[in-house]
Amino acid sequence: MEIKTPKDSRTIVTDLVLPSETNPIGNMFGGELLARMDRAASITARRHSRRITVTVSVNHVAFNKMIPLGSVVTIEAQVSRAFKSSMEIFMDVWIEDRESGVRSKANEGIYTFVAVDEMGTPVPVPELQPETPLEKERFVAALRRRQLSLVLAGKMKANDATELKILFDS
Ligand SMILES: CC(C)(COP(=O)(O)OP(=O)(O)OC[C@H]1O[C@@H](n2cnc3c(N)ncnc32)[C@H](O)[C@@H]1OP(=O)(O)O)[C@@H](O)C(=O)NCCC(=O)NCCS
Repeated sequence: MEIKTPKDSRTIVTDLVLPSETNPIGNMFGGELLARMDRAASITARRHSRRITVTVSVNHVAFNKMIPLGSVVTIEAQVSRAFKSSMEIFMDVWIEDRESGVRSKANEGIYTFVAVDEMGTPVPVPELQPETPLEKERFVAALRRRQLSLVLAGKMKANDATELKILFDS
């Protein structure tokens, strides 16, 4: 099976925050960001697998900074690890200062997608070969996140989550 790198399927989406996408105190509504991340991640998963892909899990989202009305928001989505039919997609969310143009990290999210055929049955995806130190770090941690997600979903016994257990034992 083909091997791909994160940059082969990297997706960068930049868009504004409009009034209808804000909460009562004028900052971006969390659900709007979740939907934008889902779209960016979906494109990345599709580019990596060249198949139909569906979201199977939102593993982690951190809303660290408020995103004010009118902000320019950039979502950078990359495959952090591919398993058999599933792919973990890691997203960094950036906002840019209006005057200086300097970007700062606002939030991040980690979703899992599964490649499926026309009947919705999972199909294999290409392996991922991480290249940079950050990609390698996220690749290693993705196995623990997969185990945590499967345990929480009741699809794996906690005792079988060996890499996850090491984290708690160390
Ligand atoms: C995604 C779906 C096809 C998986 O079907 P399934 O019967 O659970 O298939 P499997 O058990 O073989 O799981 C498929 C893969 O997903 C992974 N997976 C399943 N649930 C997961 C979870 N909660 N977290 C992380 N990975 C998960 C499995 O580990 C497996 O990965 P692998 O093939 O890389 O080893 C099925 O659950 C589905 O259609 N869900 C709805 C998807 C959807 O509509 N999303 C949009 C929501 S509106």
